[in-house]
Amino acid sequence: MSEWVRLCGRQDLPAEAEAKEFSVQGHTLCVATLKGTPLALDNVCPHRGGPLAEGTIEHGKIVCPWHQWEFDLATGHASHSPAAKATAYPLRLQGDDVLVEI
Ligand code: FES
Repeated sequence: MSEWVRLCGRQDLPAEAEAKEFSVQGHTLCVATLKGTPLALDNVCPHRGGPLAEGTIEHGKIVCPWHQWEFDLATGHASHSPAAKATAYPLRLQGDDVLVEI
């Protein structure tokens, strides 16, 4: 069963087109800001466990620093294969807080 929990304050979000790692309730998330919207994926790359938040954002996708797989930040789908997918977590802004559905 999922629930909405506080991830961070709005001021803690990464700058536009940057990613940052957050931990919440035993999950490590890669949070990025894209066109002003915060988006979150599981930080563990589904390929071999690379840290997605240490990757770069190119053309609206996060690029894993280990073997350069690219993931859509909104859906988690990999560019090269529909079968490869990082878990995407919904985010919501509430006052000064950013909430994540875990
Ligand atoms: S671990 Fe991410 S692309 Fe290989």
